Amino acid sequence: MSTLRDLAEEHTRLRPADIDHLHRIAGDWQLLSDLSFADLLLWVPVDGEGSFLCVAQVRPTTAPTAYQDDQVGRIVGGPEVAHLEVAYGQGRIWREGDPVWYGDVPARHEAIPVRLRAADGESGEVIAVVGRDTNLSTARTPSQLELNYLTTADDLAQMIADGTFPPPRHPGETTSAPRVGDGLVRLDAGGKVTYASPNAQSAYRRLGYASHLVGEDLAALHRRLANDPLEGTEAANGILAALRGEAPPRREIDARGATMLTRALPLMPAGVPIGALVLVRDITEVRRRDRALITKDATIREIHHRVKNNLQTVAALLRLQARRVAMPEARVALEESVRRVASIALVHETLSMSSDEAVEFDGIVDRVASAATEVAATEVTVGMRREGSFGVLPAEIATSLVMVLNELLLNAVEHGFPPAEEADERQPQPQEPVPQVVVTVHRSRKTLHVTVADNGRGLPTGFDSEGGAKLGLQIVRALVTGELRGSIELRPGAAGGTEAVLTVPLARGGSERPGG
Ligand SMILES: Nc1ncnc2c1ncn2[C@@H]1O[C@H](COP(=O)(O)OP(=O)(O)OP(=O)(O)O)[C@@H](O)[C@H]1O
Ligand SMILES: [Mg+2]
Repeated sequence: MSTLRDLAEEHTRLRPADIDHLHRIAGDWQLLSDLSFADLLLWVPVDGEGSFLCVAQVRPTTAPTAYQDDQVGRIVGGPEVAHLEVAYGQGRIWREGDPVWYGDVPARHEAIPVRLRAADGESGEVIAVVGRDTNLSTARTPSQLELNYLTTADDLAQMIADGTFPPPRHPGETTSAPRVGDGLVRLDAGGKVTYASPNAQSAYRRLGYASHLVGEDLAALHRRLANDPLEGTEAANGILAALRGEAPPRREIDARGATMLTRALPLMPAGVPIGALVLVRDITEVRRRDRALITKDATIREIHHRVKNNLQTVAALLRLQARRVAMPEARVALEESVRRVASIALVHETLSMSSDEAVEFDGIVDRVASAATEVAATEVTVGMRREGSFGVLPAEIATSLVMVLNELLLNAVEHGFPPAEEADERQPQPQEPVPQVVVTVHRSRKTLHVTVADNGRGLPTGFDSEGGAKLGLQIVRALVTGELRGSIELRPGAAGGTEAVLTVPLARGGSERPGG
């Protein structure tokens, strides 16, 4: 479907500023539609044809629509748009006497000129017409509420014709403005309530105000009700601003454990401030849920922080013990455990700083990788490189994966580039390449493919990828086939050395169990 902007640019000669104004109308006109109990259609004159094009439509949430079909994109000329011609040509609101029939639905047509005020405050030009079309099939004697809505709707319609509605938007206010049905209060020029809808009355009751609102000075009431005096003053000032003809930002009032969102709009048909419209919405539940989520989030982060601290303590204890044992083999084993614990701590540290249960994994891998090169740093300098990005990984994958990569990287450095005495057992090779380990990542929507490749001396002859009593690869296999539900293969690299090829499914609970 074409957008308002596409349609206007294709069929009309409206300038960008005109189109922006039409966007603002379409962003705020649900209010007018609901108060009018009518469909609103935004019509723009088609370039040089004498016909009009409908670029936007809104249906009332308070009454049945006059149009079952979408009207956007329709181009209409002739007698059907005579009322639009009047509004557009003469710049005044036009109301049709007799109902028009759409199939078996009787409707009343009105046309409101849309004026864009010039930058210097001059009256400006009429750039479009809002058609206000009421389905009359369910019309009956209007109630008190309906009469109040209709009166306010007429004031706003006049303000569209004057170019003073909609008011300018406040930055950051995009969604969840209170709607007519949430609660509506109308004030006279002195700030006294002349009408409050039943929902508005209920919203104020939750804030602790049980009496009738009519006759109340609303600004003073807000100041009295708010728990926080500053908030109360702000809310009161907002209403006073609207009474002066300004459009204040939305405000929240907290009182007695309840929260109410308010939006005050000036009413100034024909440029005369006659009062204000205040829309209110009880958002207590929304705020309570927000707060619960925030605390839950903070708690999870705190837990990760503590797990990290505990793991670091365990690592420190092991390191202490490693220094005390005399047997070199035992010391090496303990030092390896220190590294294993530390790499898990790294994941929890990252999780304790993130807002959800997911981590930016690249930073973690890079830290584990540089720690692995330090193991062999005394003998050979091993270069370490990552190609591709892991992106953001869910916590449950990240903790297992960091362990696996830690083992593979340590093996690549330790066994690929062993210290001199061990290396001397081989034939000396004069033009040996620069020692290097490369971690390559390919991430598709469903799978993570990781290769850890070294250009070292290669796997020992008779290497059995399944067996072996050593702990490192046992950990790898257990995590890869267990937690990660993936697969791992160790094989000689194409250009010498060794490569470990790892495949991890990202969509959990899928059917991607490894076949071997
Ligand atoms: N990148 C590699 N290059 C050469 N040999 C390797 C490589 N990776 C593993 N190996 C061989 O596989 C064996 C088993 O590795 P594994 O990680 O299970 O044990 P380890 O590293 O010897 O001891 P640890 O339990 O401390 O990790 C190694 O001893 C080594 O011979
Ligand atoms: Mg190992």
